[in-house]
Order: sequence, then structure tokens, then C-alpha cells
Amino acid sequence: MKTILTGIRVNSEPTLGNFLGAMLPMVRLSNKYSKDYNVNIFIPDLHSIISEVDGDFKKNVLTSIKYYLAAGLKLNQNVHVYRQSFVPAHSEMCWILNCVANMGELKRMTQYKDKSDGKESVNVGIFDYPVLMAADILLYSASYVPVGEDQFQHIELTRNIAMRFNHKYGEILTVPEKTEAQVAFMGVGMGVRIRDLVNPEKKMSKSTNSLNSKIMLSDDPEKAAKKIMSATTDSLGKVSFDMFKQPGISNLLQIEALVNDFPLQDVISTWQGESHYGDLKKKVATSVSTFLTSFQENIAAISDEEVFELLESGEAYANEVADAKLLEVQKAFSLR
Ligand code: TYM
Repeated sequence: MKTILTGIRVNSEPTLGNFLGAMLPMVRLSNKYSKDYNVNIFIPDLHSIISEVDGDFKKNVLTSIKYYLAAGLKLNQNVHVYRQSFVPAHSEMCWILNCVANMGELKRMTQYKDKSDGKESVNVGIFDYPVLMAADILLYSASYVPVGEDQFQHIELTRNIAMRFNHKYGEILTVPEKTEAQVAFMGVGMGVRIRDLVNPEKKMSKSTNSLNSKIMLSDDPEKAAKKIMSATTDSLGKVSFDMFKQPGISNLLQIEALVNDFPLQDVISTWQGESHYGDLKKKVATSVSTFLTSFQENIAAISDEEVFELLESGEAYANEVADAKLLEVQKAFSLR
């Protein structure tokens, strides 16, 4: 059985943008494929500590798993949820892959360049981040790794590391699919960039100071509706889906599609050419507040115990699979 695998860091509470761009599509993908694929959803807590984590990290981890459940993740024997640091093989595999990866290719990673730009001192974790990510993927022989566009370079690096390893030691590692095949498999939704409500040229970001710019999953649904009503649009006076000319309007159409699980094309057809932006805003505001109300009710109904039980079985599975692959790799290096 093939494996679909992804991880989302939980350094702070996600915005509606993070949720709609990464978590919800993963839940929908899992529900669609988990009869025929292993679906591994893990919390990359070791990746989180490359930078400061806000608030109570342990609680954030539990809450983020509740987000998946509240978003409708259907559990069965093929769905595995675990924390990276609870599976020590990830760190060991990372070290071994460090001896396969090159400095040059890691220095070319855009995320590393962005995060280290202009800084005098950068921790080694930021540099080595993609190798740990390769370990996360290769230990489980994952074929599909649903991530946003910003992570595609890391998937390509993982493929290169795996191919180099196999070339030298035999076909031990499964090379994940090429990014084009990944995109075709994920379908629309994954990696969609939800925009800032006040400044729709930018993506919705946790770090913005303007409260009207972002919707948090814990926002009061009525307040969230007001933020949609006051979202920046444009003066063209005609609804059309165009992220360059009408980013504000296009963002609203995208939010409307994702929170209701409607195909984007259907939403566009419904509103195309409409001149009263207020009607669109009212509809999206209602959709968002209805979504948040039921999402928050779902969260409240999930107990910590339930999450711990899920993690316990997920981590038992993950340790077994990861240890077996690690042993093959250790043998290849004559470490065992
Ligand atoms: P992280 O936490 O930085 O990002 C998690 C996922 O969210 C996507 N993303 C977005 N999608 C839409 N709109 C946005 N504004 C937005 N911001 C971020 C990212 O593309 C990503 O898919 N390195 C991974 C975590 C990881 C991982 C792995 C993933 C660690 N090991 C192994 C897959 C497989 C990351 O980017 O996390």
C-alpha cells in the first residue's frame, strides 16, 4: 500500500489561511484515499524548535490535532497521527542523510536563504531543516507528500537524496513522486494562498499586527463575519476571479469555496459579473461564521484523552515502520 504523508508545524495558533491552505485539504485528501493508502499526518515538533514557539507548545500540539479531527478527519486503521520527536528514528535518519546530502544543495534552499538573510548568526537547525524533512518522508516510503508550493524545493531535494543513496546502496529508499505528479494527485485546494483581508496583495499571516487582516480559528464568529464585511476589494465594480487585478474579490471567492467545500469554479460561475460586492461579502461572511461556529463546537467536544489515545496508536505504528527502514539504512552503511 502506498503512503501519503504530511506535517504542519504548530509554532502558534494557525490562521484561517493556514487551515484552509494546508490542514483542511489534507483532511479531505485523507478521507478520499485512506481506504487504499496509508495516511500519515504528523506534527514536526523538532522542526518547530528552529525558531521561537509561542505560548504553551504541548497544548498547541494537542490543539492542532483537534483541528484535524474537528475538520472531519475520518479515522481508520490506515490513518496514523504522531509526533515527530516521539519517533527517535527521525533524528538518527537525519544524521545518516546528512552524510549523503551536500552543503551546496542545502545552501540553495530558498527557505534557508530567506530565514538567514541579513542575520549574523543562524542556528544549524535552520540549515539542516530539509534533511530532517527528507528523513520524515523516506522513513515511511511516502510516495505523495501534500505541501504548499513553498515546500516543493524540499521535496525535490528529498528525491535527489533518495536517488543518490539508492545509486550507491541499492533500491532501499522509495523516491517520492515528482512535484508535477504530486500536484495532480493533491488536486486544487492544497497550498492555496489565502490573502490578507486588508492588504490582499499579501498572504494572510499570523504575524501581522492588524487584527482585521486575519481570521483566527478561535475568533468569535460574529467578529470574523465583520472582518469579511470590511475586507478590502477594488473599484472595478464587477466580480471576476483574477488574483492579480482583483485579489480581494478573488480571495473572498476562494474562502467561500473552501469553507463550504464547493468547487471553486461553481462559486466563480455563481458570482461572475455581479456588481454588488456587498452581496458577495454578506454571503462569505455568513459562510465563515457558520463554519467557525460548527468548527468551534466540534473542537470543544474533543477531549485530550481522545487525542492521547490516537497518538499512542499512531506512535506505536510509526516507531515500528520507521525503525524497520532505519535498520535497512544502517545496514547499508555497515552500522549494523
Ligand atoms: P509549515 O508548518 O511551515 O507549513 C505547513 C504547510 O502549510 C503550507 N502553508 C500554506 N499554505 C497556504 N497558505 C499559506 N499562507 C501557507 N503557509 C504555509 C506549507 O506549504 C506546508 O504545506 N516543512 C514543512 C513541515 C514538514 C513536512 C515534513 C511536510 C516537516 N517535515 C515532511 C511534509 C513532509 C512546512 O512547511 O511546515
